[in-house]
Amino acid sequence: MECGTIGWSMWRKSLDKPIRIALIPGDGVGGEVMAEALPCLEWARSRGRSLEASPFPYGAEHYLATGETISNVAFDELRDGYDAILFGAVGDPRIPDGRHAEAILLRIRQGLELTVNFRPCRQPSPQTQMPDLDLEVFRENTEGPYCLQGSTEPGRAVDFAIHTEPAVRRLLEAAFRRAEVRNLSLTLAHKANVLKHGHGLWVRVFEDLRKTHPGVAARAMHADALLCALVQDPTAFGVIAADNYLGDLISDLCAAFIGGMGVAPSLSWAPHRPFRCTVLAEPVHGSAPDIAGKGLANPVGMLLSTALLFRHLGWEPEAKEVESAVARALEAGAKTRDLGGTLGTAAMGTAIRSCLPH
Ligand code: NAD
Ligand code: IPM
Ligand code: MN
Repeated sequence: MECGTIGWSMWRKSLDKPIRIALIPGDGVGGEVMAEALPCLEWARSRGRSLEASPFPYGAEHYLATGETISNVAFDELRDGYDAILFGAVGDPRIPDGRHAEAILLRIRQGLELTVNFRPCRQPSPQTQMPDLDLEVFRENTEGPYCLQGSTEPGRAVDFAIHTEPAVRRLLEAAFRRAEVRNLSLTLAHKANVLKHGHGLWVRVFEDLRKTHPGVAARAMHADALLCALVQDPTAFGVIAADNYLGDLISDLCAAFIGGMGVAPSLSWAPHRPFRCTVLAEPVHGSAPDIAGKGLANPVGMLLSTALLFRHLGWEPEAKEVESAVARALEAGAKTRDLGGTLGTAAMGTAIRSCLPH
């Protein structure tokens, strides 16, 4: 089944069983924003959606207490027994090299082959400065420098970046298809003028796909020039496709256009494994150690990620209701501190929920 407005297929592991969602709150504000998403799952259930949600403890606390990041058994269970993972964030100042975060989050993204990281960037409420903004970042989510291969030697440090044609093609196919379905322009961000091998491959595959998608207004831009043009007029862009590293940077910049890190959502999936894919819904932001534990985090990015998950599951009415509840709450003046308001995380979550139909 094709979900019309979003343009991706609805997949699930088993049609006759409840949707199984793994909850991984992680570290810092991850748990605080996750707490506001849980009632939305309950709300969907109260409307007749069949789902089961199970918590997983993975994160810094669990790692420091047990030495375990994510066990092989748990990883297999996530891959084979769940339709989706709802993820908070990982990162903890007690583990400055972030090794547990790599072993959990990158393992999930890479192990589940979640090539496409979809990071849409629209104003969460119409009462904002750029109501016409309609950006969608398609970030490759498994490769590039995130292969974590390299070395530190005396006076020299090396980080490799690996780009494979199948993953590049999958990401770009998804981006072309999305631009086609939504009639948006498509821009590839690259630095093939320097990264001749890796980004050279991206440009070659892009030029190849352009021939099979003649209806898409597609252009490849050097990422540095793209960033300047993007800041000057973000409304001139539609879909932006990028490798893992550039896509990470571009999506945080795009978050700034819509209110900052607290409001940006994402969904990741494996286009080549449609019936065996556990998707990952997670806000774009991290564990925000500077505000963690204070009840200040904005839950909007998490709630909009939950809406993306609902849409992926084919629950379009629930996806729309959550998105419009966010918009209505913001329009009514409910705002956390990052948006210039005074509400804490729980009060913001309550304000949004009060805008959901009963
Ligand atoms: P960050 O996204 O955690 O925070 C950046 C800034 O945005 C901070 O000022 C923070 O207070 C603010 N912010 C983030 N989320 C917010 C929210 N929901 N509401 C209001 N303000 C919010 O990025 P960072 O500080 O660079 O990284 C902190 C840790 O998180 C690091 O360990 C990093 O590796 C990790 N990280 C994890 C993820 C993830 O799990 N997906 C993403 C990014 C960073
Ligand atoms: C993100 C984060 C991660 C990334 C980190 C925590 C590894 O910044 O989800 O955007 O770089 O992908
Ligand atoms: Mn990031």
